Amino acid sequence: MVDDINEVLRKAPLFETLDEEDTAALRSSVNEVRLGRGQTLFNEGDEGDRLYVILNGKVKLTRTAVDGRENLLGVLGPGEMFGELSLFDPRPRTASAVAVTDSVLAGLGHDDLRPFLSSRPQVSLQLLKSLAERLRRTNDVMADLVFTDVPGRVAKALLELAEKFGKEGDDGLHVHHDLTQEELAQLVGASRETVNKALAEFALRGWLRIEAKAVVLLDVERMRRRAR
Ligand code: CMP
Repeated sequence: MVDDINEVLRKAPLFETLDEEDTAALRSSVNEVRLGRGQTLFNEGDEGDRLYVILNGKVKLTRTAVDGRENLLGVLGPGEMFGELSLFDPRPRTASAVAVTDSVLAGLGHDDLRPFLSSRPQVSLQLLKSLAERLRRTNDVMADLVFTDVPGRVAKALLELAEKFGKEGDDGLHVHHDLTQEELAQLVGASRETVNKALAEFALRGWLRIEAKAVVLLDVERMRRRAR
């Protein structure tokens, strides 16, 4: 087990409101899942009976179109949860989950969680809050696809990744997103060429530096303005 599993779980929004006793009770039904980089946890359309909290690493959620093109719904990091839609609405998985880096997850059976939903209203409220946040973000992403140009969407995606994975360094905000250029393009909903062009333009203006599977944001304010 990860040493700080209790620590990470306690900080995860789902468990935040639980006292020690409840956390311990839920903790006993948690199983640890280890994934190697690139490994698929489940596929869109699979039957699902567990939700997962990321303890370590990064997981991407993707959907594949009939012609094989992929859309990246998001990249999740430590403390974040996924796989809960099929808890409330028992139907197949709405997206595939694939490890972007080596990852450790805590899996929690929907059946183990259900009694908590009725006896601990705060757990239900927390889950509803997560769903509401997700819906808000999805609405924003949809509006951006219609109203915002590709550079604006790239800026926004990088700022979102920075919020999750950014680390302040001497020379700027280091964002080790671990995504390939293709994955970044799938996240933004544009071609790799257009996304690369936007990144190169930002680099030329001195707003960021491009590194392997990472960027260093040098002028966050300008990026924010571009993302508006
Ligand atoms: P589930 O459908 O059980 O399995 C796939 C999971 O991906 C889903 O639960 C959600 O947890 C997650 N998911 C689906 N759509 C989105 C989205 N638009 N943004 C973030 N996560 C999502």
